[in-house]
Amino acid sequence: MKIGHVEVERGLLLAPMEDVTDLPFRLICKRLGADIVYTEFISSDGLVRDARRSLEKLLMADEERPVAIQIFGGDIPVMIDAALRAEAAGPDFIDINCGCWVKNVVARNAGAALLKDPPQMAAIARALVDACTLPVTLKTRLGWDPESIRIVEVAQMLEQAGIQALAVHCRTRDMAHNGSADWSWIEKVKKAVSIPIILNGDVITPEDVKRAFDSTGCDAVMIGRAAIANPFVFRQAKTYMDTGRIEEPPAMEERIETCIEHLRLSLEFKGPRLGILEFRKFYSGYLRGLYNASAVRQDLVRYDSADQIEHRLREFQAFLQDHSQALNAHSTALDAEAA
Ligand SMILES: Cc1cc2nc3c(=O)[nH]c(=O)nc-3n(C[C@H](O)[C@H](O)[C@H](O)COP(=O)(O)O)c2cc1C
Repeated sequence: MKIGHVEVERGLLLAPMEDVTDLPFRLICKRLGADIVYTEFISSDGLVRDARRSLEKLLMADEERPVAIQIFGGDIPVMIDAALRAEAAGPDFIDINCGCWVKNVVARNAGAALLKDPPQMAAIARALVDACTLPVTLKTRLGWDPESIRIVEVAQMLEQAGIQALAVHCRTRDMAHNGSADWSWIEKVKKAVSIPIILNGDVITPEDVKRAFDSTGCDAVMIGRAAIANPFVFRQAKTYMDTGRIEEPPAMEERIETCIEHLRLSLEFKGPRLGILEFRKFYSGYLRGLYNASAVRQDLVRYDSADQIEHRLREFQAFLQDHSQALNAHSTALDAEAA
């Protein structure tokens, strides 16, 4: 797949996720094998008003490249202005959000609302393609509801408008994040256009990644929620695609080390208060399945100093190391009991 100067074969992309894909998390996913990462979506209205929160989301680092900035909005002049501001921040390409289902975005005729008006979606795409120097891509859903799936026609209109790749979250707007993603549409879209098509929705395991490529012919796979719970999924999927081998789940030591590395990045880029506060959502992913994890997490979310957090994590690591034999025996006994 080629988007401007960015070229990746069977690429694994980190999906844009509001309140999740900030710079620290993108760096972690990049280090673990993500080929392209996306910022959280940024309001075009916020960008043109210089809103602090929107400007903060423009923060990027060279290490994470290639990186896309995603913007949303329904008003063409505002979207052009916002896209030029996003472009000036120096991403590798600009992505337009036409898939967000939440009410306050849809109410502004942005995000998934544009699925009800494909000509307007295409007009926004064309306006940004004409205004920007960087490549423009777009992310959308299958349709507004099951009765109005027009993704094949929409993809053709967007290709005509000049976008360089299309990511399809294989759900309709009315499904929000419920039900199952229907990947069968990807093959139909692929047959209708020649721009790269990125499959998104319900890709959770390395086997899912391989199945997505093999069964649909998509050009890249985009992973969202599975990366929050398990950022190691990018590496695991690459190992599986390259060798057919399923990696062992990351060892407890690596999970805790990665958690600390991520926390430090969060502090570095957000400062001590926000760095700690906004990191809290990641503990459960890193600690999931470890003995006594929920009690440890309850401690961690109460702390407001990085030293306290790191100390508690190291103490937990030492405890698990010291008791590994006993804990292994305990879990083997539980497995035997369950069998
Ligand atoms: C917490 C959260 C925030 C999201 N924010 C965005 C966003 O900012 N832009 C966007 O295009 N999609 C957003 N999405 C949708 C994801 O990018 C993705 O399309 C969706 O989660 C389906 O993929 P998955 O099954 O791999 O999670 C968000 C999803 C979640 C769970």
